[in-house]
Amino acid sequence: MSCKISSESQKEILDNTDNEINWKSLPSSQLPEYEDSQHLNLVLQELKTRNPIIKYDEVIQLKDCISKVQRGEYFFLQAGDCAESFLECHQEYVHNKLQHLALLGKKLEEKLNKKVILVARMAGQYAKPRSSPWEVRGNITLPCYRGDMINGFAFTAHSRRNDPDRLLEAYDKSKKTLEYIREYENKVDQKFYTSHESLHLWYESCFTKTFQEKNINLSSSFLWLGERTRDINGPHAKYLQKITNPIGIKLGSMTASDELVALVKFLNPTNEKGKIILITRLGSNNTEKTLPWLIQAIQKNKFHVGWCVDPMHGNTQTLSSGLKTRNLKDIIQEVKSSQKIHRELGSLFSGLHLESSPFEVTECLGGKTKMEEKDLSKNYTSLCDPRLNYSQAMELIDHVDSNHGQ
Ligand code: PEP
Ligand code: CO
Repeated sequence: MSCKISSESQKEILDNTDNEINWKSLPSSQLPEYEDSQHLNLVLQELKTRNPIIKYDEVIQLKDCISKVQRGEYFFLQAGDCAESFLECHQEYVHNKLQHLALLGKKLEEKLNKKVILVARMAGQYAKPRSSPWEVRGNITLPCYRGDMINGFAFTAHSRRNDPDRLLEAYDKSKKTLEYIREYENKVDQKFYTSHESLHLWYESCFTKTFQEKNINLSSSFLWLGERTRDINGPHAKYLQKITNPIGIKLGSMTASDELVALVKFLNPTNEKGKIILITRLGSNNTEKTLPWLIQAIQKNKFHVGWCVDPMHGNTQTLSSGLKTRNLKDIIQEVKSSQKIHRELGSLFSGLHLESSPFEVTECLGGKTKMEEKDLSKNYTSLCDPRLNYSQAMELIDHVDSNHGQ
């Protein structure tokens, strides 16, 4: 029988990896456990010797851009795959994805008449939070897929085992993806920032450096706290509290306004500008009920935040076939009602967060091509959540209101 190591024993083994940020004693069901703790430890020691993935200056630049987003001068667009795949770490794929993001950004720029900051879910979006630790297919139950950084997508016991060597591969692929991003930036003379969920804290800690007495994460410019990891007493919030990068906070429909106020105070005690982007993912049915309270709580406390709408994650449905999908109609509805509420309350709708692919994937329902349930199996390639394809994403942007509360 394999022996699972608990967060407690991992703490002892890895106590020296990061003395500054004391998150290791805090439990989280979203932190992966490894059978062979020595193996994990060796991998982490190795990762700590590797060069950081991004540059310090980029983080500072993005923070400055986010200050402008908060003032209404710029708009924030974050998009990409739900889960990045190691297999898609190729120049052509990466460039296609950047081109897609740039086209969405251009369309938004024309519509909103302001500069759009492009933030790709890329070069490190390899770890996923999961609602259930298990996946059941027929009479077989296996651990769920947690992202290429942790285990394999293939539904076999061997592939679903958490493997520390995947962390090294995640580093190599992130580094390579970033090289492709730099090439593309030079070609088109446009800036792309990278982002991912700050989920695998053992990995993140290897790229946490100290500069001018501040901790900075150099695996990505922008990191976010997920809906499943935003517990103020949990390790993820604790980790993010101690780093200087700008951060996103995902907010689901169960978020209470006092909880939000406490979390923002915890993560940004000095109310620093350019630090926080709130990413609401309430679902089209809950937006009118929940968003006003959240906005009013932020306004009352005079917190500096940017407001971004993620119309994807609150609108996921599981079909009887077991396939996850989202309907473009609900996605559009959530964007529209969020914009309306921000406008009515004198708040600024300042960003959009999408899961979207440059390819003609068949993962979300609806749109001008009238995607139906029967079409979904044709080209469903997402490793996790369903993405809008190119035409669906463009159609969504047609529905963004150019009067966005300025
Ligand atoms: C995601 O962005 O892929 C995700 C899991 O989001 P959330 O934490 O909002 O569910
Ligand atoms: Co997702």
